[in-house]
Amino acid sequence: MTTPTGKSACYRVEPGGTVAGELTVPGDKSISHRSLMLGGIAAGRTEITGFLAGEDCLATLRALQALGVRIERPEPQRVRVSGVGLEGLRAADVPLDMGNAGTAMRLFMGLLAPRAFDSTLIGDESLMRRPMERVATPLRLMGADIRTHDGRPPVEIRGTPKLRGIDYALPVASAQVKSAVLLAGLNAFGHTRVTEPAPSRDHTERMLTAFGVEVLRQGATVAVAGGQRLTGTSVAVPADFSSAAFFLVAGCLAAEHGLLLRNVGVNPTRTGLLDMLRLMGADIRVHPVQQDVPSRGEPIADIEVRKSRLKGVRVPESLVPLSIDEFPAFFVAAAVAEGETLVRGALELRVKESDRLAAMAQGLTVLGVENQLLEDGLRIKGGKDLGGGVIESHGDHRIAMAFAIAGLAARRPIEIRDVANVATSFPGFLEIARAAGLQIEIS
Ligand code: S3P
Repeated sequence: MTTPTGKSACYRVEPGGTVAGELTVPGDKSISHRSLMLGGIAAGRTEITGFLAGEDCLATLRALQALGVRIERPEPQRVRVSGVGLEGLRAADVPLDMGNAGTAMRLFMGLLAPRAFDSTLIGDESLMRRPMERVATPLRLMGADIRTHDGRPPVEIRGTPKLRGIDYALPVASAQVKSAVLLAGLNAFGHTRVTEPAPSRDHTERMLTAFGVEVLRQGATVAVAGGQRLTGTSVAVPADFSSAAFFLVAGCLAAEHGLLLRNVGVNPTRTGLLDMLRLMGADIRVHPVQQDVPSRGEPIADIEVRKSRLKGVRVPESLVPLSIDEFPAFFVAAAVAEGETLVRGALELRVKESDRLAAMAQGLTVLGVENQLLEDGLRIKGGKDLGGGVIESHGDHRIAMAFAIAGLAARRPIEIRDVANVATSFPGFLEIARAAGLQIEIS
């Protein structure tokens, strides 16, 4: 595999073409992070298959090793974690480097706040700019001692061995904040309850249950009692819906004879993009897969998509948290769809690996797509052929992949700058994209 490194790595995508056949994208990032972390604090062994060997999850893996967890990787996608139990983590000698991974940093805050030792969390240029107070605030209410710098990393945690359970209403729908509070709640006195303003991905709740923790759900509230033990288990990680998203859009644009995506995780808290594309008129069929190896409460399906005539839509705000990572790909579909597409209520996109609203607006403008950047969304006038030109990805993996897919509807070549971070979530993107039919090179 040709893995691009450094800021100078660029994609060059030739215009037009079709996609066809079947493909399997790599394992789910959210589930891979969680399987490592829960495996690390469980008693006994956890066997993970279908693990995402991307940079983000490898940062989590290395951090757990630095915290004293034995982890073996007999194969790139197969991981064996020898759990140390709820109290077994030990201090790392150095700051823990989370790289580009917001999920790793935020979940580790919850995991490391209730410990008998101190920890410091750092990351790359992008992560060092991202907001961490959203996690530090509820953890402090639990009694944690956490310092951020202007709300951002480095995050300095003074371990507080026992926290106290809280009742916390999340100000924004965020699975990372919810998960951090629940993980801290495992080492807290009493119950910890989190109430969400809208559903966010529930992988932590599903996986805690698989590790033997009793998770209580009532409406928008999820709760755990402190002191519960986790027991190691096996986890088969499904293919990542968020990676499949790029090929779902590619299929809508250019799969004359259909494109089949295999074994994709279709947890309903993740699949808002299916609804949004169907609202646009996309021809997408979901075939549930019966599982031989349990994916620990996570539904899996083969997804079939065909080229269709898309029309612009007003996206219901309720779908936004259910498709939060898929907007870069969706905006490309909107650029091709006939008429106007409007997304509002998506302020969270401004604090992802890049400001995704601004980055997509800028890139679409380069391609000649009329759009209006709103404070919390984007208005796109689609339906004309896309042009070409040089796009800045801002080091954001999903911006880079979204514009690679846009090449299918373009009239001229597209060059996308600074694409090395594609390896954080989708190692092998280039090879899979080429096999599907995209004419894409690293230059
Ligand atoms: C994630 C939650 C989402 C998502 C991120 C992964 C997770 O972030 O954008 O890529 O694994 O919990 P928020 O919780 O900040 O919305």
